[in-house]
Amino acid sequence: MSALIEFKGFNKFFGEQQVLNEIDLSVKSGEVIVILGPSGCGKSTLLRCLNGLEVAHSGSLKFNGRELLDKGTDWREVRQQIGMVFQSYHLFPHMNVLDNLLLGPVKVQKRDRREAREQAEALLARVGLSDKRDAFPRQLSGGQQQRIAIVRSLCMNPKVMLFDEVTAALDPEMVKEVLEVIQGLAREGMTLLIVTHEMAFARAVADRIVFMDAGRILEQNPPELFFTNPQTARAQQFLEKFSYVEALPKKTQTKELELL
Ligand SMILES: Nc1ncnc2c1ncn2[C@@H]1O[C@H](COP(=O)(O)OP(=O)(O)OP(=O)(O)O)[C@@H](O)[C@H]1O
Ligand SMILES: [Mg+2]
Repeated sequence: MSALIEFKGFNKFFGEQQVLNEIDLSVKSGEVIVILGPSGCGKSTLLRCLNGLEVAHSGSLKFNGRELLDKGTDWREVRQQIGMVFQSYHLFPHMNVLDNLLLGPVKVQKRDRREAREQAEALLARVGLSDKRDAFPRQLSGGQQQRIAIVRSLCMNPKVMLFDEVTAALDPEMVKEVLEVIQGLAREGMTLLIVTHEMAFARAVADRIVFMDAGRILEQNPPELFFTNPQTARAQQFLEKFSYVEALPKKTQTKELELL
């Protein structure tokens, strides 16, 4: 099967600094990719390039066989097919949940409001938030707001979802409920690119781990192999930090993580 997403010899600079260096990454429809690597290695930038939020320097990036780095690319249209959810959820505070969810489908995609509403309500039910339909964002917990942000993106019927550390700002009790939503999408066969620091989750959900360092992809392997037998010293070092954290009593984990 041909790739849904294909980076080839992809380069990105910020000024003099090369932040993505000869990236080759091919993702098939239905694959779940987890991108790992130390802070500043280029994970967010990679996802942002795929969504047109950053401009590439050179190379090729194909989506569904179409070259996205061509001048004529309509990124607004591409973004409807490649949904992205970040650490902060950016729901509109003056709109209730349902209106937040319908904004994209009705205003941008010009879909029938009733049909879009049915879909939104079905998705709300799936993430266990039907009773929050009329609530305003300020009345929701962080975990609930993040689940709404995911539903908002799903309401556009994207082919791919990008998740950039969506649980990083959440209290530990709320992390699980959000990760379960993502795991559900993976089970249903959605194509996902996920950046996370939740190693147990990464291991459970990924078809493939992509390990990056200093703008390069150093490893791309199934999780069983990556976590038990990393092929590079850099990945070994990276994982050692996490095994130290995971060995700590639960309560201290978050604090300790901040010190790393
Ligand atoms: N808008 C920008 N202008 C200049 N440099 C930037 C910009 N955004 C990111 N960078 C730099 O690009 C490099 C990659 O950043 P990126 O945010 O992609 O890293 P990351 O792997 O997501 O890190 P983290 O795990 O901390 O989120 C870093 O050195 C960063 O300082
Ligand atoms: Mg980042």
